[in-house]
Amino acid sequence: MNNNILITYKSATGFTREYAEAAAASLGCPCAELSGVSPRQVPAGGILVFGARLHAGKLDGLKRALSLYRSSQARRLVVFATGASPAGFEDVEREMWENNLGPELLGSVPHFYLPAGLRYESMGLGDRMMMRALQSFMRRKKDKTEHELQLQRMISASYDISSPEYLEPMLALLRAGI
Ligand SMILES: Cc1cc2nc3c(=O)[nH]c(=O)nc-3n(C[C@H](O)[C@H](O)[C@H](O)COP(=O)(O)O)c2cc1C
Repeated sequence: MNNNILITYKSATGFTREYAEAAAASLGCPCAELSGVSPRQVPAGGILVFGARLHAGKLDGLKRALSLYRSSQARRLVVFATGASPAGFEDVEREMWENNLGPELLGSVPHFYLPAGLRYESMGLGDRMMMRALQSFMRRKKDKTEHELQLQRMISASYDISSPEYLEPMLALLRAGI
């Protein structure tokens, strides 16, 4: 067991949990839901990994994860985000990380985006309503970017574009012990 790394996650429809569990299995380290982890469970001198979905551009649970990290004795925080957006939209990803991490964390917290998908059947009512509002907003929007056009085509029904290969850059960094 690799007790130098703890993977925590917040997941509503399962994509982030699946990525977190796959990463933990590959690294041989423990993995737990963020809400159940206390600072003394985080390995002292080790690495805390936090993963969550993007929700209207924001990384869900980041505030709580930062507070856990700051009250723990971990030496490093690594974060990953899962989302509906496909890979390859570097500008969109960069802006999202700038907005979520801000200038200070951007340089000190390694961060990774993992394409996942949408699971309407597992979403709560509020999320389904937000997605419906987003769909009609996208239909009406003029001058759509390539990213918006692609998302508009995808988000009308559930889909799964997650793949273990997207985990590799983060796993490589964690295996190297950063
Ligand atoms: C209301 C709502 C807002 C979302 N906003 C974004 C977003 O801004 N960017 C994105 O890439 N995906 C967005 N998504 C998609 C989720 O991030 C994606 O389904 C994620 O993988 C879900 O993770 P989970 O299954 O662990 O909850 C949104 C989904 C919902 C329901």
